[in-house]
Amino acid sequence: MSILELQNVEKIYGEKDNQVTALRDINLKVKEGEFVAIVGTSGSGKSTCLNLIGGLDNPTSGQIFIKNKEIGSLSRKELTIFRRRNIGFVFQNYSLMPVLNVYDNIALPVTFDRGKHINRKYIEELLQELGIWEKRKKYPDELSGGQQ
Ligand SMILES: Nc1ncnc2c1ncn2[C@@H]1O[C@H](COP(=O)(O)OP(=O)(O)O)[C@@H](O)[C@H]1O
Ligand SMILES: [Mg+2]
Repeated sequence: MSILELQNVEKIYGEKDNQVTALRDINLKVKEGEFVAIVGTSGSGKSTCLNLIGGLDNPTSGQIFIKNKEIGSLSRKELTIFRRRNIGFVFQNYSLMPVLNVYDNIALPVTFDRGKHINRKYIEELLQELGIWEKRKKYPDELSGGQQ
C-alpha cells in the first residue's frame, strides 16, 4: 500500500502569456517507511511538488492521495486539520517561531490541535534522536542551520 500517491499531477502558475508549467504529468508512489529524495536542477519544480504534497497549494489538475485520502477533496478546514495531524514540513527558510525556544517550537503544532495535552515523552525522544536535547531551551537564532 502506498502512503503517498500522485496521479497525473500538473501545476501551471500564472495566466495567459505569463503561464509557467512547473509540473507536467507527475506520477509517484511512496510506500510507508520509504525514504525518498526528489532531485533536480533549480526551477525544475521540486518546491512546487512538495508544496502540493504538503497540501500547501493545489494542483491545476491531477490527484494526490495521502493514506488513500484524496487531499483535493477536503475542504480548507479539513485540509488544515489533516495537514496538522499527518504532515511535517521543514521549509527552506525554516519558518521557526523566533520568540519560542526549541522545545516550544516543536510542541507548537501539537498545542494547536490538542491544547495542553502534549506528549512530553515523545517530544523528549525526538529531541534526543535529533541530537538537539542540549539545545532544547535555546532560541532558533542560537542554532546552526542544520539544527534549525
Ligand atoms: N508562485 C509562482 N508563480 C509563478 N511561477 C512560479 C511560482 N513558483 C515557482 N514558479 C516557477 O515554477 C518553476 C518551478 O519552480 P520551483 O518549484 O520553485 O523549482 P525548484 O524548487 O525545483 O527550484 C520555475 O520555473 C519557477 O520560476
Ligand atoms: Mg525549491
